[in-house]
Amino acid sequence: MKTLIVMLRANASEWLELLKQALPDHEVLLDPSAARGAITYALAGKPPAGALAALGRIEALFSVNAGVEALLQPGTVPDDVPIVRLADGALAAGMLEWVLAQTLAWHCNLFDYRASQVEMRWAPMPERVSSERPVTVLGAGHLGAPVAQALARLGFPVRAWSRTPKELAGVDCLAGREALHPAVARAEILINLLPLTEETDGLLDQQVLGALARGSVLINGGRGRHVVDEALLALLDKGHLRAAVLDVFREEPLPLSHPFWRHPRVFISPHVAAPTHAASAVATIAANIRRHEAGLPMSDIVDRVRGY
Ligand code: NDP
Ligand code: OXD
Repeated sequence: MKTLIVMLRANASEWLELLKQALPDHEVLLDPSAARGAITYALAGKPPAGALAALGRIEALFSVNAGVEALLQPGTVPDDVPIVRLADGALAAGMLEWVLAQTLAWHCNLFDYRASQVEMRWAPMPERVSSERPVTVLGAGHLGAPVAQALARLGFPVRAWSRTPKELAGVDCLAGREALHPAVARAEILINLLPLTEETDGLLDQQVLGALARGSVLINGGRGRHVVDEALLALLDKGHLRAAVLDVFREEPLPLSHPFWRHPRVFISPHVAAPTHAASAVATIAANIRRHEAGLPMSDIVDRVRGY
């Protein structure tokens, strides 16, 4: 019998029960020392250093997150263990809803009208149709591609930027570092859905954010380290950026001393853009395990060299 160890700090018993139901012919345990034989798989988010190596030579580690930068820290997952990132429908649906809500709120000036209401000011703003508001999506993967296509269906002119070339209906797809400036230039809404890698760390700097149209909005659902915080604050203060909607931060929870908390044009959410939905994630992971056990390749294996 194959054994799966659940190594989670939060909601471990919920995952345990769901996995037991999805994989009734497997031994699913929280405590590795209770295993009857060798351990085959593990499920983890941010396991403590050395915890995975202590399981012996497992066949795969399943991440409960889409972003796997924590698992790629040296000494976290033994080099010969494949890491499978989470790419499931609930995550993509959640991110799509969050990005659409944020994009439309800014496109329709909802926050400005709320501010006018507080001051009891009747202050119509210049309204524009979606086809007049260029949007760029950084990352055209499991989360970015549906976002780009949905915004294009709503009529926005959408550019999507990825590492390798893509074709997405209704979207102007650009790829590679040399296409970054053409991808972001004069965009009015910039949506970041990149993974955190050596290449993307600090990517949203003065140059990239400064290339956006005056009065543009940054929506960051990727990772906090993508953004150079000082550059963002300077561009907000100059009025070059109208607002920054930030779900992710260099340090989480965001320290109380961070200027983002009090900035009138920074809109914070506590890393909730697309929370992992345990039932949906378990169905995705169990299907991948079944494929592996049928001798088929697993999907969504992390490429450790690319870093995602
Ligand atoms: P994917 O791996 O499916 O997609 C990543 C995309 O980024 C791909 O299109 C990839 O290009 C592109 N990319 C990667 N590196 C580069 C680069 N150097 N230059 C240009 N493009 C690049 O990831 P997901 O869509 O599933 O997730 C994206 C990220 O979203 C996660 O890594 C995580 O950080 C974040 N996330 C945030 C959540 C939240 O609640 N805030 C929830 C879930 C995820 P290519 O297609 O060519 O490979
Ligand atoms: C993820 C996240 O990467 O929750 O899944 O940010």
